[in-house]
Amino acid sequence: MPSKPNAASRLVFLAFLLVISAAAANDDAAARRTMEQFAGFPASDDGEGPSSDFHVDSEGLQRQIDELASFSDSPAPSVTRVLYTDKDVQARRYIKGIMNQLGLVVREDAVGNIFGRWEGSEPGLGAVATGSHVDAIPFSGKFDGVVGVLGALEAISLLKRSAFLPKRSLEVIMFTSEEPTRFGISCLGSRLMAGIEELAQSLRKVVDNQNVSFLDAAESAGYKLNLEDLHSVFLKTDKYSAFIELHIEQGPILEKEGIPIGIVTAIAAPASLKVDFEGNGGHAGAVLMPARNDAGLAAAELALAVEKHVLESGSIDTVGTVGILQLHPGAINSIPSKSHLEIDVRDIDEKRRNDVIEKIRQSAAHISKNRGVELSEFKIINQDPPALSDKSVVDAMEFAAKQLNLAYKKMISRAYHDSLFMARVSPMGMIFIPCYKGYSHKPEEYASPEDMANGVKVLALTMATLSLE
Ligand SMILES: *[C@@H]1O[C@H](CO)[C@@H](O)[C@H](O)[C@H]1NC(C)=O
Ligand SMILES: [Zn+2]
Repeated sequence: MPSKPNAASRLVFLAFLLVISAAAANDDAAARRTMEQFAGFPASDDGEGPSSDFHVDSEGLQRQIDELASFSDSPAPSVTRVLYTDKDVQARRYIKGIMNQLGLVVREDAVGNIFGRWEGSEPGLGAVATGSHVDAIPFSGKFDGVVGVLGALEAISLLKRSAFLPKRSLEVIMFTSEEPTRFGISCLGSRLMAGIEELAQSLRKVVDNQNVSFLDAAESAGYKLNLEDLHSVFLKTDKYSAFIELHIEQGPILEKEGIPIGIVTAIAAPASLKVDFEGNGGHAGAVLMPARNDAGLAAAELALAVEKHVLESGSIDTVGTVGILQLHPGAINSIPSKSHLEIDVRDIDEKRRNDVIEKIRQSAAHISKNRGVELSEFKIINQDPPALSDKSVVDAMEFAAKQLNLAYKKMISRAYHDSLFMARVSPMGMIFIPCYKGYSHKPEEYASPEDMANGVKVLALTMATLSLE
């Protein structure tokens, strides 16, 4: 549990906890008594001093989620909000507006990661941060990422309403471009914050599918930056003492098991590959079978090899997907002369994941030789390590769930998030809440006000606990 801060802040925190646990038990009178006893001053509900319960403004949060969803390039209920478009700029303005209303100090870095800071009594200490993203892939929903930004701002508001006084500063971060939609780079903002030099290099050259460069796109959104500025985004490793992300599960487990809170202990390690085969093509009638070197069949064989190598790992945690398989020229009477595959491989064990990638590479070479097609490209686009949640953050999340009488389950995040990269520069943890049927990245995505309120409370109490360490 938390190490002991000074006696006064410890006493206030103890009172604060008792208020919360009593409020969780719906016993406001008891909460009031214990709080008065420990805090040494009378409780009141009129905004002077701590209020007597720990209540999330669910209606306000839902209203904000609906308002943010209206900044979309596709009709409701779908949401489309792509990096540095007008809608993204409007969403950014909206988030900064709420941060200002809450009295947070707002800062933006060179690529538009947005930080809202509540200064603690010891501002020199590493801050406790939370946050997520508000960009949305085309025709997706309104909760992915958004719950971790607007919910985090409600958690801050809740702590302010409860008269909590942070020792370590608290920060809410809105990350730039978690989704890879525009430039093919996922978690762009947090990757850069994690200090990945290759990314800073590739951002100099990258263009979107309209041939607009990253730098021009950023400028159109109001972030005029020089190439040197990219390094200013890198974070110092002592900037944050903890980072916690609140997110919908994007899977069905919590809902199915009726558990309100997921405590993430690890984020699976993602990798993606691009592979191209080239053959001679030819007429589908005129070229007889022995004379062919069919690039399409090479791709088909490699797709099956991916499945085989993944299954051979022997672990249910190893997954592989060929999500893209394109044939050229794509005519019924033409032997494919080119094929293109994009392959996603993930595991919570990095070595096992890398072994699968190596086997895929060997299979690609072998297939190329056997079929007489050229392996014209075998490129690893990204090969990120997994991230483990930090024990100090997991302990604080468990403590919070227990105080709030909320059942929880420790689980692995198989999707990755900005937290994967924040883990490189800060102790990290994630809180999951259930979402309808596990749906995500589509308009049917939904989290109930009650589930969001639970997540906000666990986040608030986790941050409060870590703030006083
Ligand atoms: C993309 O833009 C660059 C720089 O303006 C230009 O040199 C290049 O020809 C363009 N490429 C395409 C495919 O339009
Ligand atoms: Zn997300």
